[in-house]
Amino acid sequence: MIDFKCSLGDAVKTTDFEAKLAEARNYVARAQQDDFGGWVDLPVKYDKDEFARIKQAAKQINADSDYLVCIGIGGSYLGHRAVIEALGGERNRTKILYAGNSLSPRAVEKVIADLGDKDFSINVISKSGTTTEPAVAFRIFKEKLIAKYGEAEAAKRIYATTDANKGALHDEAVAKGYTSFVVPDNIGGRYSVLTGVGLLAIAAAGIDIDALMDGAEEERASLISDGGKAAEYAAVRNILLEQNYDIEILANFEPQFTQFNEWWKQLFGESEGKDGKGIYPASVIDSTDLHSMGQYIQEGRRNLFETFVEIAADYDAVKVPTLEEDLDGLKYLEGKEMDYICKTANAATREAHLAGGVPILEVVMPDLDERSLGALIYFFEMSCALSGFLLGVNPFNQPGVEAYKNRMFELLGKPGYEK
Ligand code: PA5
Repeated sequence: MIDFKCSLGDAVKTTDFEAKLAEARNYVARAQQDDFGGWVDLPVKYDKDEFARIKQAAKQINADSDYLVCIGIGGSYLGHRAVIEALGGERNRTKILYAGNSLSPRAVEKVIADLGDKDFSINVISKSGTTTEPAVAFRIFKEKLIAKYGEAEAAKRIYATTDANKGALHDEAVAKGYTSFVVPDNIGGRYSVLTGVGLLAIAAAGIDIDALMDGAEEERASLISDGGKAAEYAAVRNILLEQNYDIEILANFEPQFTQFNEWWKQLFGESEGKDGKGIYPASVIDSTDLHSMGQYIQEGRRNLFETFVEIAADYDAVKVPTLEEDLDGLKYLEGKEMDYICKTANAATREAHLAGGVPILEVVMPDLDERSLGALIYFFEMSCALSGFLLGVNPFNQPGVEAYKNRMFELLGKPGYEK
């Protein structure tokens, strides 16, 4: 189970905390009943048949592919990349490459170079099937796949995750006989990592998706009646925003969480940033970023708060070696675990930033494993929904994302988008 605690400092008034918390608790049912609230019950209601097919497909990919090229953008790729990298990367033969998350030709060239002449398959993930970035990448890598294996074998190596009934990718998958998985209608992209959107790549990377779902199920059990600790986190964020703390920095002492931070930023940014409202989600990886952003956080504008993601379990892997001499002045750390030094740095950072006027929130996961990560994902999804409702926005839509697309289509001359 995920724990939450906070030290807000004297400047923050918490008189209306109980009222905010009570309001947040009421929103669990609203999230569950929302047309896009399918993620709320997902850990206890997922399609077991599709889940088994995902495992089967992952097995096939491991048997025939050195690489799986995952093509998708936003909610269609951030979640599975976050999980795979947070857990230390691929654990078997198949390595994951990502494409279709930008329009950079250099990025495409890099993936092509990485593939070399190795065996590969594609997982193309797009609910609409028409998003420009993945659609362009899919054309390019499909052409490579057909050139290497021929039409029939290439079709066997394409896994399409898309709408169950409609859209360009759905229609192509049916026409060509691709193995397909579903992006559920009632789960938006940024809440979809524990569906077919994320699970195929995660399973292909050798990660235990049963344990991931078990962790989410456990966390759901602790939050479903009244939002539990997720409601507390949501209430505190909104109290801070009302007192002009409008930037939240997700802080993490584990570089493996770099992509997790990106997933979290999409989740909160796309859910809350609308109607002229929202907390701007930022992130750091410490202690690395203490040597770049630390100065600003300690002494810059006092409109930010930090949420530390912490791992409770110890990690007894690497110790500071013992030496005869003490030329580097590290004698006082000899024999100490690096994990101990890291956790001490984390505590020191929280104390220093709090003293500098930065409210400190802590989200604590039991360990860095599948179960804990499944729980953490569910915790943030629930917090985000409750927080969005508290803010007075719809946490499940993203109307603003269309603006750049419409202008881009107009400039590119897409039929139907002429001025
Ligand atoms: O979270 C979202 O809804 C978005 O990030 C989408 O996932 C992203 O725009 C990709 O859309 P699609 O899956 O239709 O290609």
